[in-house]
Amino acid sequence: MTTPEPVLEIQALTKHYSGVQALNGACFRLTPGEHAAIVGDNGAGKSTFVRLITGVEQPTAGDILLDGQKVSFASPLDAREQGIETVYQTLALAEDLDVPANIFLGREITRFNLGPLSVLHHSAMREKAASMLASTGVKIPDLSESLRSMSGGQRQCVAIARAAGFAKKLIILDEPTAALGVQETARVEEIIKGLKQKGIPLIIISHNLRQVFDLVDRIWVFRQGRIICNRLTRETHPQEIVGLITGAIDPKSLQSEEAIPC
Ligand SMILES: Nc1ncnc2c1ncn2[C@@H]1O[C@H](COP(=O)(O)OP(=O)(O)O)[C@@H](O)[C@H]1O
Ligand SMILES: [Mg+2]
Repeated sequence: MTTPEPVLEIQALTKHYSGVQALNGACFRLTPGEHAAIVGDNGAGKSTFVRLITGVEQPTAGDILLDGQKVSFASPLDAREQGIETVYQTLALAEDLDVPANIFLGREITRFNLGPLSVLHHSAMREKAASMLASTGVKIPDLSESLRSMSGGQRQCVAIARAAGFAKKLIILDEPTAALGVQETARVEEIIKGLKQKGIPLIIISHNLRQVFDLVDRIWVFRQGRIICNRLTRETHPQEIVGLITGAIDPKSLQSEEAIPC
C-alpha cells in the first residue's frame, strides 16, 4: 500500500521571536480525510504552529506544502483563499448580524458587482447558508435571528458550518469547545464526526484528552517548541499521551515507526 500524498505537509517549521524559540523544526503531515489533534502543555508551541499555518504570522524558516505544492501565506485571508479555514476559540462572528450574513462575512454574494455600489444577493446567501448548515447537520430554528440571541454552542456550530462550507483543503479548530457546556460540546463533537464521514481533513487543538481520543485518527505531541512525536490514536492511550506531554515518557522509547515525525 502506498501512502497517499498529504493534503498538508510541514517541513522543519521554525519561529523565533527575538531570542525566544517558540517553534523549532516542526514536521507534520495530514493525509486526505484524516483528523488529527495537536496536544501539548502551555507554551509548547501549539498556537505558534497554528499562526504560521493560517497566515497570521510568517515562519523564520521551514516549508508549508498544500497538496504537494509549496505555499506561503501573506495573511489569514490568503490562507483562507488557498483552502485553509480556521475556527478560533474566540469566534470571528458578528453579533448583530443574522446567520447568513455571518456565514458570508467577507465573501458576500452580490447581484451586481459594482464595487461600492454592489447590491447584496440576500436570497442567494440565505439559501446557500441553509444548505451549508443542513449538510453539516447544524440545526438553527430561525436563520434571521442575530447571533446575539444564540447560545455559545449554536454560534460555534455556525462557525464550523461556515468553515466546512468554504474549506477547499482543510479545517483547523482551535479549542472549539473550551467555552462550551457538556451538551453543547457533544453537539460540536457530532458535527466534527460528520466532517470525518464527509472526508474533510481537520486539525483540532484540544486540552481535552477524552475528546481527542473520541474524535481523531492521530495525535501530535508538542513539547518545548518541538513536535516530539505523533501516535495513531488506536495504538496509544491517554496515560501515554500525558507522559509524552509532560516528558515522563521519552518518545524514542516507543517502539513505533510513527513515533518520529521526521
Ligand atoms: N509573540 C510572541 N513573542 C514572544 N514570545 C512568544 C510569542 N508568542 C509565543 N511566544 C513564546 O513561544 C512559546 C510557545 O508559545 P505558544 O505557541 O503560545 O504555546 P502554546 O500555544 O502551546 O501554549 C512560549 O514560550 C511563548 O511564551
Ligand atoms: Mg496556545
